Amino acid sequence: MAELGAQDLQVLGLKKSFGPNLVLKGIDLTIGAGEFVGLMGPNGAGKSTLIKILAGVYQASSGEVRLGGKVVRSLADSHDVAFIHQDLGLVDGLTIAENLGLGVPPKRLFGPILNPRAEREDAERALNLVGLEMPSDTLLADLTAGEKTLVAVARVMDRGARILVIDETTSTLPPADANRVISSLRAAAAAGASVIMVTHKLSEILDATNRVLVIVDGELVSDAPTEGLDRAGLVHMLMQHETDSRSITSARENQEPEPVLELRDVQLGKLRDVNLCLNAGEVVGISGLPGSGLHDIAFAVNGNVKPDGGEVILHRRGLRRALVPPHRESQGGFGALSVRENMSVSALARWLTARLIKGRMEVRDCTSVAKELSVQPPSIDNTFDVLSGGNKQKVIFGRALLRKPDVFVLCEPTRGVDVGTRSEIYRLIRELAQSGAAVLVASSDAEDLFSVCDRVALAVQGSLQPLRHISELTETELELMV
Ligand SMILES: Nc1ncnc2c1ncn2[C@@H]1O[C@H](COP(=O)(O)OP(=O)(O)OP(=O)(O)O)[C@@H](O)[C@H]1O
Ligand SMILES: [Mg+2]
Repeated sequence: MAELGAQDLQVLGLKKSFGPNLVLKGIDLTIGAGEFVGLMGPNGAGKSTLIKILAGVYQASSGEVRLGGKVVRSLADSHDVAFIHQDLGLVDGLTIAENLGLGVPPKRLFGPILNPRAEREDAERALNLVGLEMPSDTLLADLTAGEKTLVAVARVMDRGARILVIDETTSTLPPADANRVISSLRAAAAAGASVIMVTHKLSEILDATNRVLVIVDGELVSDAPTEGLDRAGLVHMLMQHETDSRSITSARENQEPEPVLELRDVQLGKLRDVNLCLNAGEVVGISGLPGSGLHDIAFAVNGNVKPDGGEVILHRRGLRRALVPPHRESQGGFGALSVRENMSVSALARWLTARLIKGRMEVRDCTSVAKELSVQPPSIDNTFDVLSGGNKQKVIFGRALLRKPDVFVLCEPTRGVDVGTRSEIYRLIRELAQSGAAVLVASSDAEDLFSVCDRVALAVQGSLQPLRHISELTETELELMV
């Protein structure tokens, strides 16, 4: 066996069960200095559970974690290791420098007198590590989501962390911001740190990592160098049994469009004169950078936001709409309720007879939707909170399906879902359109637009461009999105 370095992380025979459910079935792996490891696998495979055991959030049922050869209970207490979670642990009301200094004693000139210059210099040094050029007295609230993540990365790198663990933080960032975060992680790895990144994005794995681990159903099924892998090879490694999303057929052509819902000259915050027509049987995509008002348009279509001016025209009586919001945890799910309750909440009228809910029908319908979306674990009696990130997304999607609306408003429909479910969701969206629904996909993920949308429009510079066929977009416009 190769000699262990002081920084090597070893996981030996790690198992974890939640009640009777064995979620990790004996994971063995070693990660050394300078490695940038991508951790992939289907929703519910156990990736976050593994990370949470390393972070000391959960205790393993059996097995060991070793750092530099020494057994440790978790990595949480080690200064060498830093975890960057979705919630970055930063404070919006403080400046960058103050955030960087959180938890460390302030620099003093003498006695109680603070030394702001030294603090500024410290902050600048930290920001340099991630290539963020910005005055350190900028308020954190004024930063983009990606810049905030960079501050979080700068903070842990500056404190000497040698192992960085990042669980799907990039999935909620717009591509340009995600790229900046990943470049700084790459620089850290090049300087000798170990990086472990959980992501579902193939491009992130291919661009940044030098080793890919795949966990399926609690087991490490693949451990391979990234070099030599292409997109197809990676997809094959991930799913072996599923088809690629791009084989989906497009558009109902040669049919007279039947408008279902229209925005006419709508004024919405910074957006002026938004015109958008959703037709039955068609999937329309809208995209744009953060701050472009993309999701505001979606909320206006769904009726959650009243425009400042213009008209929202409903072309059908009793028109029904259903929304999949962009942030499933804060805007979508009721953590303490069951999967069934989360799914059925906006469709209860379906099972209502003489003021009574037909419980058995509700259970039957929810079970069948959960099955169609392959929600894991499959029981609809589970509490929403215990589901993995991607499975939460599926439940919220299921809620929209059960409502059987005329218009589906889907914000970031594939955020955080695995490669197999992504193609499943694309197939479902096409089926919804084919069965006559109008579908709006508001997404910052270019793959959503290419794979499933008939026509697309970009929100740029305060307006929504006219809808065009996806093949008509110019390269510059595409660059905006990828
Ligand atoms: N606190 C918990 N109680 C019970 N079961 C849990 C708990 N946390 C996770 N699980 C279960 O463990 C399994 C693995 O979940 P985990 O969050 O590790 O998946 P994941 O690989 O991170 O998936 P995703 O890609 O969707 O984030 C899932 O079946 C999940 O329902
Ligand atoms: Mg997860």
